[in-house]
Amino acid sequence: MYSEKVMDHFNNPRNVGEMENPSGVGTVGNAKCGDIMRMYLDIDDQGVIQEAKFKTFGCGAAVATSSMATELVKGKTVQEAMTVTNRAVMEALDGLPPVKVHCSLLAEEAIHAALWDYSEKTGTQIEGLQKPVNDIGEKEEAPEEEY
Ligand code: FES
Repeated sequence: MYSEKVMDHFNNPRNVGEMENPSGVGTVGNAKCGDIMRMYLDIDDQGVIQEAKFKTFGCGAAVATSSMATELVKGKTVQEAMTVTNRAVMEALDGLPPVKVHCSLLAEEAIHAALWDYSEKTGTQIEGLQKPVNDIGEKEEAPEEEY
């Protein structure tokens, strides 16, 4: 049911953890299942993402997608990081079962929430970036409304 890559990133997630003084941090909740993902980004003066870390309180697919998402954004500029969509993350993982597709949205939204935080702090314009609707700030609870 899951690809080898999904199982690998689930069993050995990359870049798990927290970051002191991140350039951007964002937390999003999945309204469907209540799972939560927090993403930390360390961005240098050129706008290049040097480091990405995540904490996911959620299902295996959410762990695997956040792990892959952190791998994909590292080394990209903040603008290039906008190409790391949930589709791109799923492709990099060789797909997800249809019922788990919504889990990959959490990864995309977590990246956007962290980029949003960075853009607000630094006044950086990132084309196409919007504050994710499921951005829950520092709260530990997911929003209640349905998609
Ligand atoms: Fe909640 Fe996958 S079931 S993110």
